[in-house]
Amino acid sequence: MAHKLAIFNMKGGVGKSTTTYNLAAGLVKFHQQRVLLIDIDPQGNSAASLGIQIWQLGPQLKDVLQRQSSIQETIVPTSSGVDVVPSNILLAEEEIPISGLPGRELLLRKAIAPIEKQYDFILIDCPPNVGVFAVNALMAAEKVIIPVDMSYLGLLGIQGIERALTLVREYLDHPIEVAGALATRYDGRNNLSKEVLASLTDHFGDRMFETLIPETVKLREAPSHGQSIFEYDPSGSGAKAYQSLVNEVMAL
Ligand SMILES: Nc1ncnc2c1ncn2[C@@H]1O[C@H](COP(=O)(O)OP(=O)(O)OP(=O)(O)O)[C@@H](O)[C@H]1O
Ligand SMILES: [Mg+2]
Repeated sequence: MAHKLAIFNMKGGVGKSTTTYNLAAGLVKFHQQRVLLIDIDPQGNSAASLGIQIWQLGPQLKDVLQRQSSIQETIVPTSSGVDVVPSNILLAEEEIPISGLPGRELLLRKAIAPIEKQYDFILIDCPPNVGVFAVNALMAAEKVIIPVDMSYLGLLGIQGIERALTLVREYLDHPIEVAGALATRYDGRNNLSKEVLASLTDHFGDRMFETLIPETVKLREAPSHGQSIFEYDPSGSGAKAYQSLVNEVMAL
């Protein structure tokens, strides 16, 4: 059975998509894992970062959630070796109809059940909110990875994240676990980065990944080439950090 991980944080721009697509590519490259990336964010960022033309999609995730396509029909292979179930803005247009469907929180979990055996990892890139799509991701996953950027507002958002996870555990009866919080966009020259990292470690304790993801121009540039950081800048600090995260995730 696949390990199912949602990459979740309600705050925008913290590195969810950057982490999802590089982790997916690294699990294939360094550990020959069979990886499916599910993009449940209408921005389509993680799919686009792996080179998928998100404005020219055939069947996509919204069709699966509406039970109009099987998930198999939506899978797009990429040159990185990662299989992707992509989305684009049409997913956002379907948010209200999807929210009205019976069993709306379990649509994704049910959709992936038939293909779980085909993969070692299923990674789900969440949108920056706690709407029906993020809840579907949390209900389909066993664990969450929580990227947190090194800012005061990043730290402030942790209470909201914990509350969302508590609601899923208590009201939806799903024992979602924290695989780990991940410090992202870390700049060692900056005191704020050090302070936020210390508070984050205080809060999450051993539920914190040891890897620190640095702020680098190469990580920002790689998506425009449709490449993971391992192809775009294999010897840089971004690739080293994401390879270290890949190894930590393999050991979960
Ligand atoms: N470590 C990093 N160093 C430099 N740039 C980064 C880093 N991580 C992410 N970025 C850039 O910051 C922006 C936001 O990152 P990303 O899209 O991964 O965040 P997100 O949490 O998925 O955002 P959203 O909430 O909008 O989905 C992107 O332009 C990305 O390329
Ligand atoms: Mg994103």
